[in-house]
Amino acid sequence: KGKGWMTEHLVQFQGFWLSPSSALKGVLFVQNHFKPQPSDIFLATSVKCGTTWFRALIYATMNRSNYSFNTHPLLYTGPHDCFPFLDAFIYQDYLISHSTSNNPPSPRLFATHIPYELLPKSMATSGCKFVHICREPKDVLVSTWLFMNKLRPKHLPPLSLDEAFQMFCEGVSHYGPYWDHVLGYWKASLEFPDNVLFIKYEDMKKEPLFHLKKLALFLGKPFTEKEEKEGVVQEILKLCSFDNLSNLEVNKTGILRYSSQIFVNNCYFFRKGEVGDWQNYLTDETVKQLDLITKHKLKGSGLTFGSSD
Ligand code: A3P
Repeated sequence: KGKGWMTEHLVQFQGFWLSPSSALKGVLFVQNHFKPQPSDIFLATSVKCGTTWFRALIYATMNRSNYSFNTHPLLYTGPHDCFPFLDAFIYQDYLISHSTSNNPPSPRLFATHIPYELLPKSMATSGCKFVHICREPKDVLVSTWLFMNKLRPKHLPPLSLDEAFQMFCEGVSHYGPYWDHVLGYWKASLEFPDNVLFIKYEDMKKEPLFHLKKLALFLGKPFTEKEEKEGVVQEILKLCSFDNLSNLEVNKTGILRYSSQIFVNNCYFFRKGEVGDWQNYLTDETVKQLDLITKHKLKGSGLTFGSSD
């Protein structure tokens, strides 16, 4: 049974809410056809948790010896076009051909929104690496609400924050319930720390240098002393910063082709890029409710977000 959410009805599949036109097809494709390789690296996020930012960071970190910063591909390629989105229909032929070819580029980089529980077990056991980014639920709600309203068909009135809030709290959001999505990767990071790196958007904002170095180490590309002295870590952070990326022509006017039906203006992926913008939208009452749900959902997991501590 579908539930209306922002742009289309979502359906519940194995405990998670997915859009039938893209996410569900993507999950089924991955479950039935995707062949992971031990060297694969996945950026796994919920929507609006920093996928764009970390795509750029991972791409720039992995390829730093191939490009100079003044002619870097990220200056003219949208972060989402730098490596494939595992669950996007548009990449499925590409994925099939690359997973059967004898010499795929290694490591292969992918982004995905698929919850950990919905991934085929072979991905967890074959040695693949996952970088999971999560974000304070209140910021996720506000960011998602504003983003989805931009994509909402013109003939429909914008969805109110109240409606979005109610559904989000019930767990109805793309790849939601949000908390379950986060918890899947959180638990996996505790169980398989060498394979799952768990980072909070807020922590990256607070201590970018520390977390980028940790990310590079996890990706198997630690920064050398020489690189650190030369300021390579800072260069990558500057290249991938909100101010830099959002002001590039490709991100102001470019369009991401997500599937044959879904096109998204690159500029929609850059709004404010700040921590705590929920304060400008949510009432005291909704904050209280959402914090309570977060506290309840995360209870006993060891994971906390800001005011749910
Ligand atoms: P806001 O709507 O709060 O501004 P995703 O990439 O997963 O769709 O997430 C989008 C969110 O990340 C948006 O949040 C967007 O502004 C923010 N964002 C995009 N690029 C960023 C960057 N380079 N640094 C920090 N935040 C960024």
